[in-house]
Amino acid sequence: MQRVFSGIQPSGIPTLGNYLGAIRNWVTLQDNHECLWCVVDLHAITAWQDPAALRRQSLEMAATLLACGVDPVNHILFLQSGVRAHAQLAWIFNCVARLGWLNRMTQFKDKAGKDRENASAGLYVYPNLMAADIHAYHATRVPVGDDQRQHLELANDIAQKFNHDYGVDFFPNIEPVILGPAARVMSLRDGTKKMSKSDPSDQSRINLNDDADTIALKIRRAKTDPLPLPSEVDGLADRPEARNLVGIYAALTDTDHASVLRAHGGQGFGPFKNALADLLVQKLAPISAETNRLLGDENALIAILQSGAERAAAIADPIVSEAERLVGFVGLRRG
Ligand code: TYM
Repeated sequence: MQRVFSGIQPSGIPTLGNYLGAIRNWVTLQDNHECLWCVVDLHAITAWQDPAALRRQSLEMAATLLACGVDPVNHILFLQSGVRAHAQLAWIFNCVARLGWLNRMTQFKDKAGKDRENASAGLYVYPNLMAADIHAYHATRVPVGDDQRQHLELANDIAQKFNHDYGVDFFPNIEPVILGPAARVMSLRDGTKKMSKSDPSDQSRINLNDDADTIALKIRRAKTDPLPLPSEVDGLADRPEARNLVGIYAALTDTDHASVLRAHGGQGFGPFKNALADLLVQKLAPISAETNRLLGDENALIAILQSGAERAAAIADPIVSEAERLVGFVGLRRG
């Protein structure tokens, strides 16, 4: 059975983009893979996080993942900081990856923005830690949204260079799993920008814990153009906001852009937005209710994450120890 790894940052409330682009696909993969799901708190601190908020958001993220259908018994759910192997392998990868490779990462450029000199060193080597997350488990399939494609290519470059430099065939090639009509959900305020939990405007996104009224209002206010919906997919070219809403509708109904347009083509945005808001409320309300229920028992939640971290470490520790041996470390026993 192939091993799957994926992660999500606890840097805010998960959005509809996280759900449709990633989490939903995680749940499907559980049927026929061995899966590790990780709340990546080490990644989150590459940008400043208030400590109390980070703690709360890490637990909220874990609860949300469980509410979405992540199975912590047959699979593994854990916090990245709970398994030392991630940081240990990341250091080795910091010494394998080339500065030239990191300089090409578009996400670093986006996140560092104009004030690059002031970005943390962690933000720069972020993709090396991500490669370590995956390779510490010899995972071969990684379900993500489209924005992570470049990072996964880098993870393969790092594995190949490690194997080449040390004359081994140790780290396998990984295959990105990027699925569905909502692999890149866009901002509700600007169809050319990704929907993101860190966008300063709350109106730009649907949060998985938004209540019904908030969802309806955000969808009603979502930017659109004055034309009715086209009846063919070609008609969505150059209409990023329309394309985005149709993609969201398609993902929520497990169809594609073409079938949504067959049903709603010719319609104005008013009725389409009402239908979309109803659909969102129907899908998200149970998730948010279950998340709140799980957050009501913090000890039980922490026990799930504790057991997940122990089971994850049991897989990663021997792999990372072997990588250390290949590098030439003597390998003292750790107390
Ligand atoms: P993060 O926390 O930004 O996002 C988690 C997952 O959600 C996807 N996603 C989206 N998909 C579609 N449309 C969007 N607007 C959207 N926004 C986010 C992301 O592609 C991702 O799959 N670096 C990763 C976390 C990570 C990771 C890993 C992933 C750390 N280590 C190892 C895979 C494997 C990140 O910041 O995701």
